[in-house]
Amino acid sequence: MFISFEGIDGSGKSTQARRLADHLRGLGHDVVLTREPGGSPGAEEIRRLVLEGPTDRWSAQTEILLFTAARRDHLERTIGPALAAGRVVITDRFADSTRVYQGLSRGDLRGLVDALHGLIIGREPDLTFLIDMDPDTGLARARARQGHEERFEDFGAPMQRRMRAGFLDLAAEFPARFRVIDGDRTPDQVAAAIAPIALAALAAPA
Ligand code: ADP
Ligand code: TYD
Repeated sequence: MFISFEGIDGSGKSTQARRLADHLRGLGHDVVLTREPGGSPGAEEIRRLVLEGPTDRWSAQTEILLFTAARRDHLERTIGPALAAGRVVITDRFADSTRVYQGLSRGDLRGLVDALHGLIIGREPDLTFLIDMDPDTGLARARARQGHEERFEDFGAPMQRRMRAGFLDLAAEFPARFRVIDGDRTPDQVAAAIAPIALAALAAPA
């Protein structure tokens, strides 16, 4: 079972991915918790290139190549072997983030994202939780972390609003694997909404 968490910056993906991993481990599942960009040593190096520095450091096209290169390494070294061993993989972001961030942020590049995905990745999660959230609240939460990886947060609130709409459109496009979760609640409430959906998916025949 391959599960992804998606949503705008600060929506609570990392928190909820970790909570779901802990919950499933407590029930005896063998879980690999990972993230993008990153999740393998090579992809973590690419992470630094794309998340640090000024917003105009890379064009959207170059970003598509960098995120896809990182994803390929993540798939080869971490996700693929774990799934082959029968483990549950939970990733904080996957290809839907590229569809939305690089596909929509600076012109319509969704076709390029999808073409490259088909050639290089060719794998979708079985289940995707979209944590939906008011962008101003999300951005305030993300900025409060005060890290060095603020390149995308620095694109600002109007961009976050477009990214939120983009994620909701994607959920409508792929209803079989997407579940939209209201993230504007306490972490306990959000976790309580997610766990039964993941357990039902794990119990369903493949
Ligand atoms: P993301 O991975 O989507 O950027 P995080 O899980 O890192 O989001 O959460 C961003 C910040 O908001 C963190 O400081 C986290 O502790 C906090 N946070 C997460 N979920 C909630 C929630 N439901 N309500 C309030 N704050 C939250
Ligand atoms: P992440 O570490 O998940 O940040 P956050 O916790 O703030 O959500 O991701 C960092 C940034 O990388 C985020 O702003 C979105 C961006 N990103 C893309 O633009 N394209 C991608 O394919 C991925 C995986 C992330």
